[in-house]
Amino acid sequence: MKGTHRLYRVFSFLLVAAFVLTACGGGATESPAAPAATQPPAEPMATEPPAAAPTEAVEEPTEVAPAETPGAAAGTSQVEIFSWWSGGGEAAGLDALIEKFSEDYPQYEIVNSAIAGGAGTNARAILASRMQAGDPPETFQGHAGQELIGTYVAADQLEPLNDLYEENGWLDVMPETLIPLISQDGNIYSVPVNIHRANILWYNPQVLEANGVEVPTTWEEFFTAADTLQAAGVIPLSMGTQWTSMHLMETVLLGELGAEAYNGLWDGTTDWASPEVTQALETFTRLLDYVNTDYAAMDWQPAGQLVADGQAAFNIMGDWQDGFFRELGLTPNEDYGWAPAPGTDGLYQFLSDSFVLTRGAKNPEGARAWLTLCGSKEGQDIFNPLKGSIPARTDTDPALYGPYLQSALEDWKTDTVVGSLTHGVVANDSWKAEIDTALGLFLGDRDVAAFQEGLVNACKTAGACQ
Ligand code: GAL
Repeated sequence: MKGTHRLYRVFSFLLVAAFVLTACGGGATESPAAPAATQPPAEPMATEPPAAAPTEAVEEPTEVAPAETPGAAAGTSQVEIFSWWSGGGEAAGLDALIEKFSEDYPQYEIVNSAIAGGAGTNARAILASRMQAGDPPETFQGHAGQELIGTYVAADQLEPLNDLYEENGWLDVMPETLIPLISQDGNIYSVPVNIHRANILWYNPQVLEANGVEVPTTWEEFFTAADTLQAAGVIPLSMGTQWTSMHLMETVLLGELGAEAYNGLWDGTTDWASPEVTQALETFTRLLDYVNTDYAAMDWQPAGQLVADGQAAFNIMGDWQDGFFRELGLTPNEDYGWAPAPGTDGLYQFLSDSFVLTRGAKNPEGARAWLTLCGSKEGQDIFNPLKGSIPARTDTDPALYGPYLQSALEDWKTDTVVGSLTHGVVANDSWKAEIDTALGLFLGDRDVAAFQEGLVNACKTAGACQ
């Protein structure tokens, strides 16, 4: 079965690509469509303040020895893979893919340079300085959308992969709506390995039951439930370090504004200064009264763990949380449940992990071999059931996926799809960094008016707003 999505793209003819997709059939058979419009070239994403340090130490790259590397010259047989999937539910899929690669391509030696820190907060800063210093890994995980096109492609750091797409017939099996988000001027720059969903409300069913609380479908319902939970000594909503609060904020913006106005934030057709945005930011502010006080010191896994342990009732996080919960040995639908984040039923706030070939890679052929596996049906069906994501390809085997992912596969077919801010789809790195700076100040002073002004200015600086 081919691609199942029809895209309503809300493309600004100015600078920004934002979009909505719905699934109503239509195959992924066309050549790359119009390239995604680009935002201005971006600076590397700023790292977060020290208070937002990850809970895991930065890890040393691990070398996965190949079965054999006959006669390979030292250095040239290595394929360095750069990501932030270093453990805590993140690494399982990557490790399985690396294992398969080592079986299929024994002539190459993988160097797994995963650097801990959710959403790549540490890894991406290190990557940026390595790229600048002319020391790129062969390949790295780069999100489809403006992170890829408006940041790395704009900086001329990646090689086009059109020939790989042709050789492997990927245009017939990748959603046609995804291709513009990884293309520029007819060149395709990455291989999507998955589709993740950002707007998920995870919960502990036993905690809900014990407190007589239902799964909320609106933020108002959430606040009623949260008061009950807080009175009972339960943390209503677990949250982690700053990037997870950006993640929470984007789901609140989506839930409060709806898909069309949310998309308009990224192409200048929704006014960041509008009362609707003020209202959404006030909801976000109210939520912060219900989160764990030690949030700044924890990454997304410890925040998820609070729900797993029953100390917290709810958590908003992407569906990599499913991978983490399963790695913890929890049973879906018994030990944890999920629902669309309040106000976002029928909306799929998506992101896509994709791998690239760097300009200046020492072993481009090895990198191409890795990319070939990432784009293959087998590779995607090895990786995604463990990672907690659905495959990017439309022809993989649903039976291999667990209960949450089965539900995600269904939702992906029918929901309206919009892009994530925190995970690179709708804004390039420099715009996102400005939003992040305003958010950092806001978390300290909770001044909604000043925050909104910062967001208005960030949009102007990015060139998407007047
Ligand atoms: C996202 C990434 C996911 C997952 C998550 C948490 O940016 O796309 O694959 O790794 O960060 O670290």
